[in-house]
Amino acid sequence: MSASRIIVALDFADESSAMELVDRVNPELCRLKIGKELFTRSGPELVRKLVVQGYDVFLDLKYHDIPNTVAKACKAAADLGVWMLNVHALGGPAMMAAARAALSDNDSPMLIAVTVLTSSSEEDLQAVGIDHSAQQMVERLALLARDQGLDGVVCSAQEAGVLKSSLGSDFVLVTPGIRLPTDHADDQKRIVSPVDAVKQGSDYLVIGRPITQADDPVQKLLTINSELSRL
Ligand code: C5P
Repeated sequence: MSASRIIVALDFADESSAMELVDRVNPELCRLKIGKELFTRSGPELVRKLVVQGYDVFLDLKYHDIPNTVAKACKAAADLGVWMLNVHALGGPAMMAAARAALSDNDSPMLIAVTVLTSSSEEDLQAVGIDHSAQQMVERLALLARDQGLDGVVCSAQEAGVLKSSLGSDFVLVTPGIRLPTDHADDQKRIVSPVDAVKQGSDYLVIGRPITQADDPVQKLLTINSELSRL
């Protein structure tokens, strides 16, 4: 189990590009996240390979389907030995309960829910018939996830403070959208620095491009780890 709160998003087009980075870090320095692109290209074999190397792997496939299908997908992911996996809270309470029941062993992976994607605007929500603000939806879906026994949610670090105080310190908050003041502007809008994210209550920081696209990814990772260790 890694000591770092950092989950590096392996958003690479293929395994060899991902392994160029993985081969330069180690499980003490970070955890790793595999999302839809890399999983669709490289599949469960890559997940198993990283697990065997000792990495805590977050399989970010955001399951959203009928309860039976999601439960079986969660079990299949757990059988790969992943450390964390996720479902969409919008799949509803029955779906989340089925996922929880499928991962009820003590050594099951952490099960978390995506609330509202950080890329969704209020107009996007209205377009699909949701007449609440993103903040209201995040709080509502996070509560639903906690009530179904999930371990936590993915959220913006800007929401972390409110969620920690309303849902309790044990409810795990995983936050993407992490940027240092020196990072280039990109598509992430609601950004928070690593130190501020942890101060707000974030338990794990998902960081992609600021590390993967850095001139020296290992140095960047070491710098962020050391900033966090001083908190
Ligand atoms: O490169 P960057 O640091 O923006 O990467 C963030 C990662 O977190 C990406 O893999 C993205 O898919 C993921 N993510 C996100 N916002 C969410 C959920 C996941 O940015 N709400």
